Amino acid sequence: MPLPSVQKDSKVVITGASSGIGEELAKQFAAQGYALLLVARRGDKLEQLAQQLTQRHHIQVDVYSCDLANRDERAKFRDYLQHIQVSILCNNAGFATFGNLHGLSADRECDQVELNVVAVHDLTLAVLPQMIAKKSGAILIVGSTSGHQPTPTNATYAATKAFANSFAESLHSELKGTGVSCTLLAPGPTRTGFTDVAGISKIEGVGGNLVWVSAERVAKEAIQGMQRNRRIVIPGFIAQAQTLGGRYTPRVILLPILKQVFSRLKS
Ligand SMILES: NC(=O)c1ccc[n+]([C@@H]2O[C@H](COP(=O)([O-])OP(=O)(O)OC[C@H]3O[C@@H](n4cnc5c(N)ncnc54)[C@H](OP(=O)(O)O)[C@@H]3O)[C@@H](O)[C@H]2O)c1
Repeated sequence: MPLPSVQKDSKVVITGASSGIGEELAKQFAAQGYALLLVARRGDKLEQLAQQLTQRHHIQVDVYSCDLANRDERAKFRDYLQHIQVSILCNNAGFATFGNLHGLSADRECDQVELNVVAVHDLTLAVLPQMIAKKSGAILIVGSTSGHQPTPTNATYAATKAFANSFAESLHSELKGTGVSCTLLAPGPTRTGFTDVAGISKIEGVGGNLVWVSAERVAKEAIQGMQRNRRIVIPGFIAQAQTLGGRYTPRVILLPILKQVFSRLKS
């Protein structure tokens, strides 16, 4: 099932488009001529990107500044989505925290669940009915290799991504024959703003290009995967190995190893 074709009045909605993987998805969909709706909190960054993409590709790019972890703001955005035509939804916005759970900010942990889990669920529910009615649409859900493995000192993030991974794979199967597709993008270490936000910037680049892939490559493989109606896209050899290890290593072996490694990451 190919991706929905380019239509002037139907948008590719990308959450977390102000940075990293989301920004790259925006650039690559724009290069294919799609009209975009870019979403994140930093409206100034979205405006800059929108201007750049409009000038370069002569497409319509709208921006919507919104804190998707905030229930009231998200409810308004969800209503907005239900009143426009959405051909493709990329659920990409997300962040992680590292450290022992009891020492972390409870508010921030809750925001992480709101953004990485509830917003993904909410926005998918908002656009699915119109896609099913049109028998056309595509959804990308950005999970993570972390979603395949419980991770001490990264507990909330790993659990939120377990939701994203499972939700996306279930939908992929459920939607067969409807004209609507769902693909899970489950990246491993990717060079973006992610490590800075998570307070683990000292590990950025450790292990070189074998371990770290570019956001450009991740976005490219994600879009190719959506075009081919792939169930899951895992860019890079290390991420693929991590996925196998996370899925099939007995927990009794995996958990102490991950505890050792992850408890050293915090700057
Ligand atoms: N980089 C990695 O190694 C890696 C690996 C696996 C999975 N991932 C996943 O990839 C996705 C994209 O992350 P990234 O690596 O590209 O990181 P990033 O560069 O930090 O980008 C995160 C994006 O999410 C947006 N965002 C954060 N909080 C938000 C909120 N409350 N409301 C709305 N938007 C919000 C940010 O925009 P504003 O700050 O402007 O709101 C930004 O555009 C995330 O779901 C992440 O979990 C990343």
